[in-house]
Amino acid sequence: MRVAVYSTRAYDRRFLDEANAAGRHELVYLEPRLDADTASAAAGAQAVCAFVNDRLDAATQALLHSLGVRLLVLRSAGFNHVDLAAAASLGLAVGRVPEYSPHAVAEHTVALVLTLDRKIHRAWARVREGNFALEGLLGFDLHGRTVGVLGTGKIGRCFARIMLGFGCRVLAFDPQPHPEALALGVLYVGLPDLLARSDILSLHCPLTPQTRHLVDAAALAQMKPGAMLVNTSRGAVVDTRAVIDALKSGQLGSLGLDVYEEEADLFFRDLSDSAIADDVFARLLTFPNVVITGHQAFFTEDALRAIAQTTLANVDHFVATGSPLHAVSVERLVP
Ligand code: NAI
Repeated sequence: MRVAVYSTRAYDRRFLDEANAAGRHELVYLEPRLDADTASAAAGAQAVCAFVNDRLDAATQALLHSLGVRLLVLRSAGFNHVDLAAAASLGLAVGRVPEYSPHAVAEHTVALVLTLDRKIHRAWARVREGNFALEGLLGFDLHGRTVGVLGTGKIGRCFARIMLGFGCRVLAFDPQPHPEALALGVLYVGLPDLLARSDILSLHCPLTPQTRHLVDAAALAQMKPGAMLVNTSRGAVVDTRAVIDALKSGQLGSLGLDVYEEEADLFFRDLSDSAIADDVFARLLTFPNVVITGHQAFFTEDALRAIAQTTLANVDHFVATGSPLHAVSVERLVP
């Protein structure tokens, strides 16, 4: 099958070529992001492979469908960027990678927690300048602290397991508590309790209408003064402007982000020669207690290998049965 692969970077190519070593499919690598303006590049392909910031709205899907595309395969677990109702009405099959490496994302989350706690970002810069003063670098022991996990799916549980290993108390909120989390010793509480009791709050829920801006001004006000917030889920789970206000007032002690509401115009590209046009993002960068990575939590070789293999398995299965191995359907929107 001919597959147009959008938002391709060299690393995607490396692992997709490896997974397609037998040459079962013809992969056409395209650098641009998929949207209504770039959809025409998929002409001749029966499948489109998309990443997190590709636009799979109704207009783009209609264009792809008119070109003969019948399958959308996502190189991601999240599918909040796909209009599933449009896909259903067009008869476009959608496949995703439900699990590639929860460890990759959970471990990166821990990296953000440790960086913020022990001010590694500041220490690194100081030492390079020959400044070995410790003022401003004071951290706290993770041992004995309370960590709140919002969403105990595959990644949230993996993160909880690691934090329990540090000797933290782990609280969680999830509308669907998971027996494995309970067995680990995670204590489920209501959302207000989670906000009020956590020294570190880490977000691991999907972006849905219910979770959009879940961490808003009201939620931030309920948090422990000086707490740490870490978001490696989806940017819009957090109201960024409210977070900036909470950082300015000191209500929020520190912030670690791997995702950002308006990341589509920033992330996965080298913009180091241009001015950042997004003033909200630029403001975030001014805080010494904020660490941002550009959606790299998934970015390990183990995860990329698994993503490539599952993506090709989705295409194989579609060729054999008319449906991808890990299909996403409109019913999934209903909780
Ligand atoms: P999952 O589907 O295994 O778990 C999600 C959990 O969130 C479920 O237990 C669900 O019940 C829970 N949930 C749903 N609504 C909730 C709410 N209102 N409040 C609290 N919990 C709620 O998903 P997984 O694999 O653990 O991934 C979590 C999220 O991480 C993904 O949806 C994706 O957005 C993000 N992600 C980020 C990556 C990155 O590179 N930064 C990479 C992979 C995923």
